[in-house]
Amino acid sequence: MNTTTPDPTHDADDEHTTGHVYDGIEEFDNPLPGWWKWIFVASIAFCPPYWIYYHGGTPGRSIEETYSVALADNTRLQFEEIGELQPTAETIVKYMYEDSWRRVGSIVFQTHCVSCHGRDGEGKVGPNLTDDVYKNVTHIEDIASVINNGAAAGAMPKWSNRLHPNEVVLVSAYVASLRGMDLDGPRGPEGKTIPPWPELTVSDEDAPADDS
Ligand code: HEC
Repeated sequence: MNTTTPDPTHDADDEHTTGHVYDGIEEFDNPLPGWWKWIFVASIAFCPPYWIYYHGGTPGRSIEETYSVALADNTRLQFEEIGELQPTAETIVKYMYEDSWRRVGSIVFQTHCVSCHGRDGEGKVGPNLTDDVYKNVTHIEDIASVINNGAAAGAMPKWSNRLHPNEVVLVSAYVASLRGMDLDGPRGPEGKTIPPWPELTVSDEDAPADDS
C-alpha cells in the first residue's frame, strides 16, 4: 500500500469503510437498503409455511391437484352445455370431428387407458386400437359398450361406474379416430377386419345457417 500519496477522496469516505484493506483496495461499508433486506428476509420466512401448506401432503392443495380439480369443474360446466350424450353411432361419429371435444376424449384416454393400450393406442397389455382389426368391436357404438362393460372377464376393465357417460362417448370418439393410424405396436393384429365407420351425417340444426 502506498502511504506517501494519500488518495484525496480517502478521508471523506473513511467512516464508510469496513477497515478491510487489500493491496490498497478498501472495502466500503454499504449496508443493503432496509426495504431490500426486509423483502429478502420476508421471502425466506415465506418459504417454510408455503412448502408445508402446498407440499406437506394435505390432499387437494398441490398445484397439480388444484389444476385437475379446476379441469374437472370446467369439464362438468362444459358437459352442461352438451347435455348427456347417448353412446349411439351418430353421436360418436359426430364427436370424432369436433376437435375441442375430441381433446377431452384424448385426456380421458391419457389418464385411464394408456397403461394398457399404449400412449397413442398402439397396444400393450390391451390390443392395438389404431389398426383395422378388432376383437370386440364390429360397429362404432360397440367401442362404447366395451368401455362401459369391459371385456375378457375384466382384462379390459369396466368403466361405466368410473367415467361420466359423456366421457365414455368422448373417449369412444377418440378411440374411433385412432383407427387408420396403423401404428406398430408390440402385439400382432388381433381379431377380424371390420367395415369402415359410418360417415359423418350433418343434421339440420348443425348445418351452417343459410343467410340468404
Ligand atoms: C388393465 C388394462 C386395460 C385398461 C386400463 C384399459 N383397457 Fe381396453 N382392453 C384391455 C384388454 C386386455 C382388451 C382386450 C379384451 C379382449 O381380449 O377381448 C381391451 C380391449 C379394449 C377395446 C376393444 C378392442 C378390440 O379389439 O375389441 C377397446 C375399444 C378398449 N379396450 C378401450 C379402452 C379404453 C377407452 C380404456 C380407458 C378408458 C381402456 N380400454 C382401458 C385392457 C385394458
